Amino acid sequence: MNILVTGGAGFIGSHVVRRLVNSYPNYHVFNLDTLTYAGNLENLKDIESSRNYTFIKGNICDTDFINALFIKYQFQGVVHLAAESHVDRSITGPLAFVKTNVLGTVNLLSAAKSIWEKDFRGKRFYHISTDEVYGSLGNTGLFSETTAYNPSSPYSASKASSDHFVRAYGETYGLPYLISNCSNNYGPNQFPEKLIPLFLNNIIIKQPLPVYGDGNYTRDWLYVLDHARAIDLIFHNGKNTETYNIGGFNEWKNIDLVKLLCKQMDQKLGRPAGESEKLITYVKDRPGHDLRYAIDASKIKKELGWEPSVTFEEGLAKTIDWYLTNGPWLNSVTSGKYQEYYEKQYK
Ligand code: NAD
Ligand code: DAU
Repeated sequence: MNILVTGGAGFIGSHVVRRLVNSYPNYHVFNLDTLTYAGNLENLKDIESSRNYTFIKGNICDTDFINALFIKYQFQGVVHLAAESHVDRSITGPLAFVKTNVLGTVNLLSAAKSIWEKDFRGKRFYHISTDEVYGSLGNTGLFSETTAYNPSSPYSASKASSDHFVRAYGETYGLPYLISNCSNNYGPNQFPEKLIPLFLNNIIIKQPLPVYGDGNYTRDWLYVLDHARAIDLIFHNGKNTETYNIGGFNEWKNIDLVKLLCKQMDQKLGRPAGESEKLITYVKDRPGHDLRYAIDASKIKKELGWEPSVTFEEGLAKTIDWYLTNGPWLNSVTSGKYQEYYEKQYK
C-alpha cells in the first residue's frame, strides 16, 4: 500500500514519517516535501535508507507534478501536513500561506479525487489542521469539534480555508476524508522560530528572550510524539468525514512557561539559579494575538482511546536534552537565512 505524507521533512511530519515507516513494513511511505526553510532531511537520517521509504522533493502547489505523482504511485492514503506554519511569518507575508495552505491543499484534493473517484473504497485523505481555526478563547472554556471557526491570523485563516475545502470535497464529490485539529506541539526537531526552541536556543547563546506583550497568553502544549501517535490512530481507526480535536490537557501562560524553561536550562547548563530569567525581555505584542487556546480532547479519548502519554515534565526534559545534544542541528538551522529572519522579526 502506497501512502503519501506531505511535509514529512518538517517538525511534526518527520515524527509521523518515522512512525509509519517503522510500524508498517507493508506500507511504502512517500515523503513529499519541497524543503522550505522549515524542511530538513537531517530530521530523517535514521530512516532514510529504509526499504519502505522514499523521499520526493516537490511542491504541492505544482498541479501537473502532483497529478503525475498520484497517477504514477496510485496512493491509497494521504496524510497531509505540508504547510506554512508560523503565525509571525503569516503576518509579514500572507500570500505564501494562501498558496501552500489553500491552493496546495486543493491541488492534492483534486489529484486524489481524480484517481480515486471510480472507487473511493479503502482510500483516505487525512488533513492535519490546527486549533487556531477556532480563534481565541477567553479565560474559560474549551474548543470542541463543533466550535465555530473564527480565525484571527493569516495563518489560521489559511488553515481554516483548507479545512473547508477538505470538507467541501467530501460533501460534493464523496472524497473520504478525516481532519484533526491539534494544539501547540513541542519536542525534538522543531524549527527555532516557535516559542520553545527559539527560547532554548537564546538561553544557550545568552540572547534576550522576547516575550510578546505582557506574556499572559495561554497555550495548550502537547509532546510531538503523542501527536504522531494520535495521527497514526486517526488515520487507521478514525471514521470518515469526522473531525478529532487533539490536545495535551496542559495549559500554560507564556510567561510561566518561559520561567520554567529558564529554571530547567540553568540546572542543565550548570548556571546559577535565576541567571536565564534575567534574559526575559518584554517586546511589542504580536498583532491580532489570540489570548488563549485550550482543547477538549474527550472525543478522541472516548472513540479511539487516545490520551497524552508523556507528561509535560518528561516531555520538556526530553526536549531540552535533545536541543543540548544536537548542537550541530541547531547551529546549521540558525545560520544564514535564519539570522536575516531574526533581525527582521526582533530587532
Ligand atoms: P513545519 O513548518 O515544521 O513543517 C512544514 C513542512 O512542510 C516543511 O518540511 C516544509 O518544507 C514543507 N512544505 C512547506 N510548503 C510546502 C509546499 N508548498 N510543498 C511541499 N512541502 C512544503 O510545520 P509543523 O509544525 O511540523 O506543522 C505540520 C502541520 O501540522 C501543519 O499543517 C500545521 O498547520 C499543523 N499543526 C502544527 C502544530 C504545531 O504546533 N507545530 C499544531 C497543530 C497543527
Ligand atoms: O495551536 C497550534 C499552533 O501552535 C500551530 O498551528 C502553529 O503552527 C504553531 O506555530 C503554534 O502557533 P502559536 O502562535 O501558538 O506558536 P508560537 O510558538 O509562535 O507562539 C506561542 C506563544 O508564544 C504565542 O502566544 C506567542 C508567544 N511568543 C512566540 C514567539 C515566537 C512570544 O511571546 N515570543 C516569541 O518570540
